[in-house]
Amino acid sequence: MSKIIVSPSILSADFANLERDIKKVENAGADWIHVDVMDGHFVPNITIGAPVVKSLRPVTDLILDVHLMIENPEKYIDDFIKAGADIITFHYEAITPDNISDLIYKIKEKDVKAGLSIKPKTSPEDILKYLPELDMLLVMTVEPGFGGQKFMQDCAEKIKTIKKHAPENLIIQVDGGINNETAKICTQYGATSLVAGNYIYKSDDIKQAILSLKN
Ligand code: DX5
Ligand code: ZN
Repeated sequence: MSKIIVSPSILSADFANLERDIKKVENAGADWIHVDVMDGHFVPNITIGAPVVKSLRPVTDLILDVHLMIENPEKYIDDFIKAGADIITFHYEAITPDNISDLIYKIKEKDVKAGLSIKPKTSPEDILKYLPELDMLLVMTVEPGFGGQKFMQDCAEKIKTIKKHAPENLIIQVDGGINNETAKICTQYGATSLVAGNYIYKSDDIKQAILSLKN
């Protein structure tokens, strides 16, 4: 089995102490840092933007895995690239399908990895044709917008279809309601990267929590 990449979501961290909370997961074995960007339009919540990513860039060497839950992602991609994002994932539902390949290209030509994400109601068949162009496909297992929601098992089933059609090196990430039990379901189906917010940050033993996602 390939190595599982754990990407703690700082949405569950203390926003007044982001550097401290990033170090906490970094020292506990996190592979990436997941940054949830929300605009109050694509999702009913507002979080952080490119200036925060820019400030976080010097505090960690870990990969900054930026999840854009915003309308018109094409308008903001350059800001996130300049801010130092290593991976930029945008939503299939947030952009006209005709522009998806161009945006993937625009991200990759700047040596940033490109991800595409699908919400719970989007069928995997809609995005299969983009898989060869992508570095990562993110399957949401909750409605995007908030941390701490319940894992939707039927969304995880989509991983199987994606895995079947994915090139060998495509990273399949899941996000929403991931804990040591739901992680197992997802990795068995073929997920290779797990985002977890509450499960990691609310744990008394963060190192053990991260380890439990890898096994
Ligand atoms: C939800 C975000 C997630 C969220 C996950 O819209 O994309 O990354 O932080 O939080 P948990 O792991 O608590 O469900
Ligand atoms: Zn996320």
